[in-house]
Amino acid sequence: MDITEAATDRRIEAVTDRAYGERAAGWTAEIRRLAAERDAVILAHNYQAPEIQDAADHVGDSLALSRLAAASTARVIVFAGVYFMAETAKILAPDRTVLIPEPQAGCSLADTITAPQLREWKAGHPGAAVVAYVNTSAEVKAEADLCCTSANAAQIVASLPADQEVLFLPDQFLGAYVQRVTGRTNMHIWLGECHVHAGISPAELRRKASADPQAELFIHPECGCSTAALWQAGEGDLPAGRTRILSTGGMLGAARSTTASTVLVATETGMLHQLRQANPAVRWEPVNPGAVCRFMKMTTPASLLRCLREGVHEVTVPAEVAGRARRAVQAMIAVGAPSGAAPAAAGTAAE
Ligand code: 13P
Ligand code: SF4
Repeated sequence: MDITEAATDRRIEAVTDRAYGERAAGWTAEIRRLAAERDAVILAHNYQAPEIQDAADHVGDSLALSRLAAASTARVIVFAGVYFMAETAKILAPDRTVLIPEPQAGCSLADTITAPQLREWKAGHPGAAVVAYVNTSAEVKAEADLCCTSANAAQIVASLPADQEVLFLPDQFLGAYVQRVTGRTNMHIWLGECHVHAGISPAELRRKASADPQAELFIHPECGCSTAALWQAGEGDLPAGRTRILSTGGMLGAARSTTASTVLVATETGMLHQLRQANPAVRWEPVNPGAVCRFMKMTTPASLLRCLREGVHEVTVPAEVAGRARRAVQAMIAVGAPSGAAPAAAGTAAE
């Protein structure tokens, strides 16, 4: 590309950015107006598209958003995320209207176990405690003793009596991480995985880390590379002091204090928007730029506007199922430090 072409490209980019900015300002203002009119709070997960994050009241990880849903006094909770998250909000706030802009936004990890499958697993392990990751359906949560998120899974498992068997589900990589951190040997792990995180490979992580030896590594425990990363850090193949396994909320906390000039990020790429805002001095580099959750990216400005204008799509959980799931979910939000709900550009601070 010669200098003239580059200058033309920059001009086109500037015009496109300006046009986008003007459009975004228009619909963000309309979203904020409708949210105020409906007495709605908009909660967006860290993996949502940047424009959705910027229009929300709060952006955070599963734990922070569950806590916000439970504490919110708004009449309507709009969950810009995936279905199990909106269901969790409904379980915690049964008297509130919970809306999701895209009811088809599922989760490949949550789909790896059904309530009948869990009942059969439990039958083979009488007396075992069932710890269900929040990425599960309401029916599965209703069969669990405790729920957890990636931010507090190890603490939840460690809180159980040492001699009690544990059934941990459904994520095998998070399970392996928890087993390693707690040193627990009586833990059985369901062999589920998230297709996005499983696709972030140890080989790619190692290749990127050796190309930039000073970089820090932030790795979500759902990643296919997380188990290998801990082992490689132990063997000296990855920088032990700079390899960190973190929930998305944990990444945000670590972003604010890191002194690294580059951080390699192993999780869904939506996270980069929050990280770049939290610390613009750092070069935030995805380990796999293709790690995009199509379910998370289903929410669009148009579907969020429609959700607020028309009051769709309402999320319901049968009272009997919600009643059985509530204790496990309430235990989840009671454990662990604040886990990084960031003030969204349009919203207010959560912590
Ligand atoms: P967090 O628990 O970090 O929010 O990540 C969960 C996740 O993968 C959402 O799908
Ligand atoms: Fe589910 Fe994976 Fe998407 Fe998270 S990133 S919502 S675990 S499919």
